[in-house]
Amino acid sequence: MKHLLSAQDLTRDEAILLLDTAAQMAATQSREIKKLPTLRGRTVVNLFFEDSTRTRISFETAAKRLSADVINFSAKGSSVSKGESLKDTALTLHAMGADAVVVRHWASGAPHQLAHAGWLDAAVLNAGDGTHQHPTQALLDAFTIRRHLAGGTGDLAGLRVAIVGDVLHSRVARSNVHLLRTLGADVTLVSPPTLLPVGVETWPCATSYDLDATLADWKPDAVMMLRVQRERMSGGAGAFFPSALEYSRRYGLDHRRLAVLPDHTIVMHPGPMNRGLEISAQAADSDRSVIVEQVANGVAVRMAALYLLLAGGSSAEGTSI
Ligand code: NCD
Repeated sequence: MKHLLSAQDLTRDEAILLLDTAAQMAATQSREIKKLPTLRGRTVVNLFFEDSTRTRISFETAAKRLSADVINFSAKGSSVSKGESLKDTALTLHAMGADAVVVRHWASGAPHQLAHAGWLDAAVLNAGDGTHQHPTQALLDAFTIRRHLAGGTGDLAGLRVAIVGDVLHSRVARSNVHLLRTLGADVTLVSPPTLLPVGVETWPCATSYDLDATLADWKPDAVMMLRVQRERMSGGAGAFFPSALEYSRRYGLDHRRLAVLPDHTIVMHPGPMNRGLEISAQAADSDRSVIVEQVANGVAVRMAALYLLLAGGSSAEGTSI
């Protein structure tokens, strides 16, 4: 594979290769000198049309730790705000000799277009497109689950993951459902009916409207909370649930719900968190929370993706993953 566009594209072997490579990368990150010479002379462009904190910094750190030259390009302050098209932006990046383009875009499908329209010959890594996909987030989540619950190797066979909240607007949920299933885990989506997408019954997972029942009866090994994405709610949050208080009563993770979880169960959130809405401060900061670790693991996973796409692992250039 030349690009990383969707978690759904990954086979089990490709996903395991990525996670194993990320484990090797993570091991290098506890050394005093964290920088590897692997991508010296290669250029990685971070092309961000939508706001991001973690993902952008994480990709930048990953590329720099591999010694690539990094160019950060955000839509604000560039000619994109003057109406320049994705095509012209791509042609500019091509002229600059970009070897990889990491793209976040509000339009679902933009990374796919960038990869396949023939405008540039760089590897394209999807850093989140609309409500569609966010494959490196799913990989870092799988990496984190594997470390905590599966001994750090192999797949996630038999593990139970509850993904809770605003599934409708979440590319993280879409990416995770597919990757977790590919790796053998069982997934239940828990959400109010208004925040479940049409067609969810065709996804490889179960669904529930009842968080308390899912936690008490199904006993998940990991509980992944999703952000309520107000900025994507046309008509405002009121079109989807009666009030913030009502939402957190029914779907928020708080100390009362933490208490019913099995001892080993971990709590995850991709960030940014709405503390007090989908997750209480107590839950976010509890011993079960691996939220800060998810961020750290993001660097190792993105190093692995850049390495496999640009240096091709041990095989020929661009043929792995
Ligand atoms: C997620 C995203 O942007 O899709 N965040 C992230 O990448 N860390 C989830 C979100 O915005 O809620």
